[in-house]
Amino acid sequence: MPASVHLLDHPLIQHKLTLLRRKETSTTSFRRLLKEIGALMAYEVTRDMPMLDVEIETPLETMRSKLIDGKKLVFVPILRAGTGLLDGFLDVVPGARVGHIGLYRDPKTLVAIEYYLKLPGGMSERDAVVLDPMLATGHSAVAAVERLKETRPRSIRMVCLLAAPEGIATFRSAHPDVAIYTAAIDRQLDSHGYILPGLGDAGDRIFGTK
Ligand code: URA
Repeated sequence: MPASVHLLDHPLIQHKLTLLRRKETSTTSFRRLLKEIGALMAYEVTRDMPMLDVEIETPLETMRSKLIDGKKLVFVPILRAGTGLLDGFLDVVPGARVGHIGLYRDPKTLVAIEYYLKLPGGMSERDAVVLDPMLATGHSAVAAVERLKETRPRSIRMVCLLAAPEGIATFRSAHPDVAIYTAAIDRQLDSHGYILPGLGDAGDRIFGTK
């Protein structure tokens, strides 16, 4: 059965997303809001994560209790905009490992080309969460997950802030086994591959490079 598309429509996420989309939102606010949304999304994305059963001592007695198997989690931001979501995810799961995938879009073909990859060891025991704010054409996400699958992680989830219907369709036909988590599904792509209505270029807005 194909994995699902999870629409994270919690009011706090939607409220912050509206502030983020506004063109007058400053770089400082954009970065802070994206971090806050990242932390809220992390709650939903980690909802069914594997847990460890450990023995602890309370001040009164010994008991068995649960811990997230945090060291088994690996967050994989797609450079560079994916790093904007990373801080919020790490706030919620500080023990997670982090891998990076660098991809750029060929401006003519919009095809994703890999220029950097660094992942932690032991990937076959890990649950991977790929982070990229914009699932636009879907080419970067498809390429990142393809590369990640070569390392055979225990599971893969794809997290974006905004998705275009075209990107979802492309991603799902390439990776029907990977669930997508998004805060909104927007109307369409423009002729340059930007999401409409969207929020503009996520990387430029995070880093103030425009
Ligand atoms: N990447 C962005 O940063 N914004 C879009 O709208 C599409 C891709």
